[in-house]
Amino acid sequence: MAPRSRTDFPGAGSWVPDDVTLPALHEAVQACQGCDLFRDATQAVMGSGDANAAVMLLGEQPGDREDVAGEPFVGPAGKLLDRALADAGIAPEDTYVTNAVKHFRFERRGKQRIHKSPSRGQVLACAPWLSAELEAVRPRGVVILGGTAGKAVYGSSFKVGESRGRLIDWPTDSLAVHRPPEWVLATIHPSAALRAENRDEMYAGLVADLRVAAGAVG
Ligand code: URA
Ligand code: SF4
Repeated sequence: MAPRSRTDFPGAGSWVPDDVTLPALHEAVQACQGCDLFRDATQAVMGSGDANAAVMLLGEQPGDREDVAGEPFVGPAGKLLDRALADAGIAPEDTYVTNAVKHFRFERRGKQRIHKSPSRGQVLACAPWLSAELEAVRPRGVVILGGTAGKAVYGSSFKVGESRGRLIDWPTDSLAVHRPPEWVLATIHPSAALRAENRDEMYAGLVADLRVAAGAVG
């Protein structure tokens, strides 16, 4: 079998409606077959939040709980993110929360479904949905939560450790949008602060980074 590459997937483009409103995107994403992930997931999980939100928070993909609920960041990572946003002074009504990939990728182990990070090809296939959400919401800033989100925006050489905690520019050469965000803030994925041995330190770092975004929101 040939190695998997981005060309294995048709990409989401032909499922994205011309009418780029959040209700239209929510409906249309359920039909998407832009990559193989629609097959095993329960449903697609589109972003949620205010259509006029100042800040878009970008995670990786829905987890086990999100896949069942149909809403992003409702499981343990989402609870931690909510707490970190509150501690950083970012109001929920200022945020729209979404993921780079809209279907849950997992491996079965017995009865459990174990999270598996999406491949580069799956992230690229799903990017048209993210572009459409950026068009619908037109956020002033984007908060990147972890490496997969960073790679979805900046390409595969992106490293959270090199970019986190300061305002950076939206890249000119990816995810074409009519009105690009004015700033981007990268930080760790909240689930990293759930698992780690030094999770208090990781959590404090997450909040410190988010405070930089809070300052940009004003
Ligand atoms: N992790 C993510 O990246 N996104 C979610 O929606 C939940 C967990
Ligand atoms: Fe479509 Fe994205 Fe789901 Fe793949 S992960 S089927 S591109 S919505």
